[in-house]
Amino acid sequence: MNTEKIIVTAALPYANGAIHLGHLAGAYLPADIYVRFQRLRGKDIIFICGSDEHGVPITITADKEKVSPQVIIDRYHEINKISFEKFGMSFDIYGRTSSKVHHETAKEFFLNFYNQGLFSEKKTMQFYDNKANMFLPDRYVEGTCPNCNTDGARSDECENCGALYNPSELKNPISKISGEKPELKETSHWFIPLNKFQDRLQEYINDRNLRFNWKENVLQYCKGWFHDGLQERAITRDLDWGVKVPLENADHKVLYVWFEAVLGYISATKELFSHRGQDSSWREYWQGENTRYIAFIGKDNIVFHAIIFPAMLMAWNDGNKDKYILPENVPANEFLNFEGRKFSKSRNWGIDVLEFLNHFEADSLRYTLALNLPELRDSDFSWNDFQARHNNELADILGNFVNRTMTFVHKHFEGKVPQLGKLSERDVEMIDILNGYPVKIATLIEKYKLKDATLEVMNLARLSNKYFNDSEPWKTLKSDKEQCGTSLNISLQAIYTLAGLFLPVIPFTSQKIFRMVNSRPVEWENMGKSNLVEGHQLGEPVILFKKVENEMIEEIRLKTANAESDVKKEPESELITIDDFSKVQLRIAEILSAERVKKSDKLIKLIVDTGSGKRQVIAGIGKSYSPEELPGKKVVIVANLKPAKLMGEESQGMVLAVENEQGILNVVEVDSSISNGTKVK
Ligand code: MF3
Ligand code: ZN
Repeated sequence: MNTEKIIVTAALPYANGAIHLGHLAGAYLPADIYVRFQRLRGKDIIFICGSDEHGVPITITADKEKVSPQVIIDRYHEINKISFEKFGMSFDIYGRTSSKVHHETAKEFFLNFYNQGLFSEKKTMQFYDNKANMFLPDRYVEGTCPNCNTDGARSDECENCGALYNPSELKNPISKISGEKPELKETSHWFIPLNKFQDRLQEYINDRNLRFNWKENVLQYCKGWFHDGLQERAITRDLDWGVKVPLENADHKVLYVWFEAVLGYISATKELFSHRGQDSSWREYWQGENTRYIAFIGKDNIVFHAIIFPAMLMAWNDGNKDKYILPENVPANEFLNFEGRKFSKSRNWGIDVLEFLNHFEADSLRYTLALNLPELRDSDFSWNDFQARHNNELADILGNFVNRTMTFVHKHFEGKVPQLGKLSERDVEMIDILNGYPVKIATLIEKYKLKDATLEVMNLARLSNKYFNDSEPWKTLKSDKEQCGTSLNISLQAIYTLAGLFLPVIPFTSQKIFRMVNSRPVEWENMGKSNLVEGHQLGEPVILFKKVENEMIEEIRLKTANAESDVKKEPESELITIDDFSKVQLRIAEILSAERVKKSDKLIKLIVDTGSGKRQVIAGIGKSYSPEELPGKKVVIVANLKPAKLMGEESQGMVLAVENEQGILNVVEVDSSISNGTKVK
């Protein structure tokens, strides 16, 4: 049997903006840690990424700047490529979906499906902007909701009340591109019947979950999709930017960006091997007998990687002799916030990778992000945490241990690895700890518990530092030089082991340490042993981490804190009369029970007691409260609101709440002595 091959992909970022820390924590750092680990295990692995260069967001950015989309993608492809390099991402290739190979690959898939008779072609009505001369994607049309009459509703769904409707029902539609009123025009598109794949997709996910243990957040998400039933999905769009639909009479139509972007992984692999002069080798990875595929992504990409892409590969495999492998796992992360709030380009909240790396070392960022990976739930990056991790852990524990050991050996043992003498109990214990660590860390990384893996390696540094202290080599130097040499030998093996185990997380630092001990990394399974032989000449010690001072943090905090206030300006509203106000009946109600509305992280279903009976109210407070904390609260409700349906659930009223600066909602509460049903005046 030929040796196992592994493909790892990281989501292809859109080339219309610079990647920020949130992206790194979502998909890129986890992928890089995993790949570097597998390389140390001697695996035959390729690591694929690149720019996603099509889609409407790119054309919008271009229009705003009055340049062509090409200018935008060239700019951000370069910026992101460099950002990733500086951050230490070890991609084998950073491709582009504008490449010729990619266009050919995407067209090949489309035509193959088309010729299999997989697609259905359907006519639909879509908004057309006569001024901009384009069909408008759903999110570029706004209007008044036909259900709740709120302005700012999207063309097919209202964020306020959750109603879904046909674009033709939207009132007062306005194009967000030209500001003009768009007209409904007929257009035709090709649809992929995902419904026909549902059973096989469910089997596939069950099977891979049993064998490879998928993450709970990914499973839950897919379950929601399956529960609702997969639908046909249009895989073409009316647009001039993208991969042209390779059929006659399909002018101004391109492939839907997600349909082709996921194929970017395959086309980038083709390109990688053609650079290496091995044109057909890509097949050994994507279509081989003994090959595995892992797709790292952020949570907003789950449906495309766990459902749509596998369905496409299944469809290909149905009609062709050469069969693609499906992802063995899709370890998606949740989101990282920045100082308690969502990253936001428009609000200027957050920090780009390049700017960060102009101030601090990549490894300090990698280490901090690794310890804050949103593996199970959203997490947060904060400057205080960053400074503390760098100073108290990287510098004070790891850096200090390496430095004191190295300088001691240079000073008292001519910079050569001392002999291992008779072992004390403490020595034996330390040797055992070192021996056990590689397997311990490998097990965590294989389960994608990268946060825990990082914590554990730092714990080894802590234990090593303690071992050095407890051994008191500065005392034994005079009393028992053999014992002194033994503790230093073991400390040096610990340094060497730490450099290896830490390499996936902080590769630049590991390299420095390997240079200091004048050696190279061994394969993972040989780490933790006495790899530095007695008498081996070490290199010169260097300081690994300089302290991050308060001033440095304050400086960058100021630079990145010019976010606009989240407090929205009061709309200039007309004055109302007391009669107008009295139309709104505000009453006190007690929350009796609360549970989440299925498939929504925002909506909570409440049963409240209004004094004159019980009612169901759907409240959009799910991101700020967990259901358990709500029962018993006395809240204010709008009691005479026309009932509305939200995500299929009827809501008979509305709970009043205010939003704080972090975007967290607080429901308005009153004292428990107030009886249910009391009118608020
Ligand atoms: N461009 C998408 C994003 O930034 C990710 C695309 S991943 C791909 O969210 F596989 F479709 F390319
Ligand atoms: Zn509405």
